[in-house]
Amino acid sequence: MHPDPNPVLSPSADWWRSAVFYQIYIRSFADGNGDGVGDLAGIRSRLPYLADLGVDALWITPFYPSPMADHGYDVADPRDVEPVFGDLAQFDTLLTEAHAVGLRVTIDLVPNHSSHDHEWFQAALAAAPGSPERARYFFRDGRGPDGAEPPNNWPSIFGGPAWSRVPDGEWYLHIFASEQPDLNFTNPEVVADLEATMRFWLDRGVDGFRIDVAHGMAKPDGLPDMVLLEGVGLLDDHGAGDLRFDQDDVHVVHRRIRAVLDAYPGTMAVGEVWVSDDARLAQYLRPDELQLAFNFKLLTAEWAAGDLRDAVTHSLAAVAGTPAPACWVLSNHDRPRHVTRYGGGELGLRRARAAALLQLALPGAVYLYNGDELGMPDVDLPDEALQDPIWERSGHAERGRDACRVPMPWSGTEPSYGFSSRADTWLPMPEGWAALTAAGQAADATSIQSLYRAALALRTTSPLFGGEALDWLPAPDGCLAFRRPGGLVCLVNVSGAPVPLPEGQVLLASADLGDGTLPDDTAVWLAA
Ligand code: NOJ
Repeated sequence: MHPDPNPVLSPSADWWRSAVFYQIYIRSFADGNGDGVGDLAGIRSRLPYLADLGVDALWITPFYPSPMADHGYDVADPRDVEPVFGDLAQFDTLLTEAHAVGLRVTIDLVPNHSSHDHEWFQAALAAAPGSPERARYFFRDGRGPDGAEPPNNWPSIFGGPAWSRVPDGEWYLHIFASEQPDLNFTNPEVVADLEATMRFWLDRGVDGFRIDVAHGMAKPDGLPDMVLLEGVGLLDDHGAGDLRFDQDDVHVVHRRIRAVLDAYPGTMAVGEVWVSDDARLAQYLRPDELQLAFNFKLLTAEWAAGDLRDAVTHSLAAVAGTPAPACWVLSNHDRPRHVTRYGGGELGLRRARAAALLQLALPGAVYLYNGDELGMPDVDLPDEALQDPIWERSGHAERGRDACRVPMPWSGTEPSYGFSSRADTWLPMPEGWAALTAAGQAADATSIQSLYRAALALRTTSPLFGGEALDWLPAPDGCLAFRRPGGLVCLVNVSGAPVPLPEGQVLLASADLGDGTLPDDTAVWLAA
């Protein structure tokens, strides 16, 4: 069973409702053994930093044995640790140490697919068509003469068809890379194995999971063709005609997941649910399904008052009839970082500072991506450095996600800025990042890191942040303003010009205030 809660951790069973989670993309956070790749030892060495920053919980991306075709999201054994990242003893120590400094630990669960190196897939390849080994995946005959065409028209998210052919002529389904065959959740063995994986980590004491492709895991009977939309990017939403995702039977799997969690009080799961319709998204948050679902509307919103307000309104509407709070994301390891999305450079940073106060003022759970607190931008990487499977699978048409996965700069003036004991890292770090380092910013009261520290401290300690509701306030054109029931007022100015500051005591601002005014691209918190 779940170990006794550590006294440093709040005993509340639903601690996650307003928690600030910190996403650690493990390859890029901190390297403890000097091979240029982040690892569990590196995370352990930075726990004091994370506790001091003021976050409540960690989400660590996959660290399981993997051939790394998709940097760990291709899992060969979900119940062990990849040697590049450490071992099980190292993980157990990390868990104990994190709990001791008041940080909960959640980890990635990757149910939708396995690695092609997983023993099940290797057994499936060795077995005959129609065998029980193949029934754990989706093996089908092809179409056309000699079955030489894929069984349906589904594209892979990473480019090319979602099917690959094996030597005996059958095809297997992979919504992502060909090294990530989709598992068949109508097969009881597949569900039972997922439950075994969950219990394996829950018994070790993890506090929850982030569920990868939580809107996958169910495919329509007969695997019919889907509606293909012109001009939609690989990672963009294909809407309701996309039969690869958001099929009703996915909820059967979520109920099984929740039943396992319910036996471990105080644990939770957040789903990566790329479903843009509010009502469809809400279905994942029914009382016997996920506790949280990422809402990606802030992450996809333009830096404009109307878009930001819509993002907030829809995110709140999606959870309104459910037991769940909203769950806010500005950046992650799959999309361009928001400093870059908002224009890059000084402008992008200024807007990112304002966005931080917007995100942290909202009711519900918050996910920060490692480096958000440093204002990290995307990095223009040379072609030869690119590693994301999207680059090859798209025939070099799309550069993929490496630009937002460059290692974190910790200290010093040259690459690798304290990330590793060596200069060359798995993705190269650029020159000129001395001012971006965590150590450099800690010493600067005006840095974005200092802003995050102040904001996180207020959010944790001030009763002004109480209550899960939000009331919109009248605001000048191009601005958004809202009040939390506890009394916090947040005003964000995206209007292009200064606006008058409202009444109230200023608690924190993302930039220097004018004389009685809030400058453009600035947010302020007030007690009013
Ligand atoms: C979503 C993850 O965030 C992404 O990095 C990964 O490539 C896909 N799922 C496939 O597992």
